[in-house]
Amino acid sequence: MNQQLTAYVNGRFTPLEDATIHIEDRGFQFADGIYEVVACFAGTFLDLQPHLERLQRSCEGVRIPLPCSLEEMATLVQETYKRNPFEDAMVYIQITRGAAPRSHLPQGELTPTLIITSRNLPKPSDAKLASGVKAITLQDIRWKHCEIKSIALLASVLGKQEAALKNADEAFWLDEEAHVLEGCATNILAIIDGVLVTHPLDHQVLGGITRNMAIRVAKEHGLSVEERPWKLTESGLTEAMMSSTTNAVMPIYCINEQIIGDGKPGKTTMQIRGWMLEAMDALRRA
Ligand SMILES: Cc1ncc(COP(=O)(O)O)c(C=O)c1O
Repeated sequence: MNQQLTAYVNGRFTPLEDATIHIEDRGFQFADGIYEVVACFAGTFLDLQPHLERLQRSCEGVRIPLPCSLEEMATLVQETYKRNPFEDAMVYIQITRGAAPRSHLPQGELTPTLIITSRNLPKPSDAKLASGVKAITLQDIRWKHCEIKSIALLASVLGKQEAALKNADEAFWLDEEAHVLEGCATNILAIIDGVLVTHPLDHQVLGGITRNMAIRVAKEHGLSVEERPWKLTESGLTEAMMSSTTNAVMPIYCINEQIIGDGKPGKTTMQIRGWMLEAMDALRRA
């Protein structure tokens, strides 16, 4: 079935197939922009406010003025969701510095470009959930402001390609001392000696909203959590999981050639996933 999709582009809603931006948009010319992705369950958004606040921080981080207030943005996001035919959706917000004749230094006052789209929220397959996913590691080649959700994703595109060539689902970036930072499009958390461990929030990782949720539900259920640098060689490592808006948490059974734990989705990982899905189902019923 060919469903008519609608996008919001610079002040108006338009059929997705007609939605265009200028070829001199700085997003296209320089990847001079930022983005956000938020999930919606049957009309209720998951953590919309934290997503919008991260959008604001990303804009501030690259000196792009917010094109509208966060309240107006929330309304546009909801409206874009409603104008598209998906019950559970992922809504993308992308903001660039705007269109201007090509020059590294932005000239004069530019009007930021704002586009919003809504697509079906992809769910991990049952097969993937039953087995967990395979991943690789790569030396981090990204810029030093990973806390900003920049649209400059070339390193992550290459990382994902590298992973796919090795039949893996995700590539995790390592710092120079082999600490595990995050994935191309996910955060990574591990169970080490029974503690939920993940890299602390700094310039090397995105402050994932799902990472926060995993930490929150883990603490609520009495698990210890440590935000600290960690390595794959730690002897107490028994489980690993990746988190993102489209995955909740997903178990990882193998990284490079290293089997994690017993090579099956970890018990604590699946508990955390269960607690998160409960919260998402509650949104659906809201
Ligand atoms: C580099 C990176 N880290 C982490 C995440 C997970 O963030 P969130 O949980 O907010 O979706 C993403 C999501 O796109 C990402 O691109």
